[in-house]
Amino acid sequence: MDNRIQEGTNWDIGAKPKSHLKLLILETTENTSSKDLRLGLKSIWQVLQSLKSGVVPSLGSDYPVDPKELEVLIGYGHKFFEREDLIVPTPEGMLLTNRFPQPNNIESKQVIPGSGIIYDEDIQENVADAELVIQLTANSQLSVNRGHVEILKLLNAMDEENPLETGRIKIKEAFDGFGREDHRSWIDFHDGISNLRKGEERKQVVAIKPDNSGGQDWTHNGTYMVFMRLPVNLKVWSEVPYNEQEILVGRTKKSGCPIIRIAPDGTPVPDPRCPVSGTREITEEGNEQFREPSAVVSDEIKLSHVQRANHHRSPVFKPDSRRIYRQGFEFVESVGNTGDYRVGLNFISFQDDPDRVLFILTQPDWLGNLSFGGDPNNQYNGIDKLVTARAAATYFVPPDNTEVLFPGENMFPR
Ligand code: HEM
Repeated sequence: MDNRIQEGTNWDIGAKPKSHLKLLILETTENTSSKDLRLGLKSIWQVLQSLKSGVVPSLGSDYPVDPKELEVLIGYGHKFFEREDLIVPTPEGMLLTNRFPQPNNIESKQVIPGSGIIYDEDIQENVADAELVIQLTANSQLSVNRGHVEILKLLNAMDEENPLETGRIKIKEAFDGFGREDHRSWIDFHDGISNLRKGEERKQVVAIKPDNSGGQDWTHNGTYMVFMRLPVNLKVWSEVPYNEQEILVGRTKKSGCPIIRIAPDGTPVPDPRCPVSGTREITEEGNEQFREPSAVVSDEIKLSHVQRANHHRSPVFKPDSRRIYRQGFEFVESVGNTGDYRVGLNFISFQDDPDRVLFILTQPDWLGNLSFGGDPNNQYNGIDKLVTARAAATYFVPPDNTEVLFPGENMFPR
């Protein structure tokens, strides 16, 4: 079996994250058989492969469109593995302990027990906890929207053919996002800077390997996606003084250089060698060695977001290192008809074991009990609510290979 990691994971040398994201969360109506779901997915996959080659089904190949490097990935959620007729055992990483609960099942509304990130008050349901996810990424908004709309057209046509309420696939939610060419986040600091070297290092973190597949060879070169839709409270952030912001992140705001200690007057002290002469930002050539902040920092800086999220453990292929490959996309959306706006991050990470992320999110020395970082007993005004959640889930992203009609087809009964 020549298993490949699905596209859209951007682990390989030369891979470049695309500028636009559409994350479709799919569910099925009650009693939809695995057989019907398999047939539906087969058709959805065909439409998406056609769009990848520039052919819109109703226009045909004589009137091609530019697919703008559309990439398509499919993942399976915990609800999918509740099916009793699947012909493979549940993959190791889809244990119930790795399932993000529904907000109403936890009094504190934590995104997962032990995390300091809580659901927004208006969230009653975690919609990401569904059967399936389809990640569409491309270099234009049209391309990912076209993928979304062509699936809608297909599902409508399938519903018309099928008068029954069962056997239907629905798009439960569609989350939008976009990449930032300035490599920054809504808190204005650089983001995605320390993110493992492309190629072998990233693959070692992303790909399920023989030693962590629990003997399930068919999952090799599969991966797990962890997704969280995370609003950022800009009002809270703007009230944090400049120096405190840098101390909380663990980097300087303008250059992105790592902070190593705090001076007696409270000023954060960056690594004096960064940025190298002739450059202004960490993203510029010559500053590669500063992209992963040093492990040798003062105790106060160990509390920063970057130091809590990465304890510099190696080798990275071991899930114990807790290294993850993040592929975030930002969002801006209106809050109902209030005239208010919500901004945030579609946190998406790929790793061979979802516990790498869940550990970071829940352990006290890491990001556990915190919304972002700092000292849990001395949180700056409101900073404990800086980052909140609207949806979260873990998905198994099966390998692709020439023997299946779509990734994961081998899990379905015939
Ligand atoms: C909206 C929420 C978040 C924002 C705005 C944010 C922002 C940042 C920023 C500005 C950096 C520094 C740039 C870099 O090193 O790449 C960073 C690094 C990082 N963040 Fe976050 N982050 C968020 C949520 C999270 C969550 C929930 C996790 C983990 C579950 C996480 C894990 C990491 C990791 C692993 C690093 C790299 C640390 C390193 O290797 O030095 N972040 N984040």
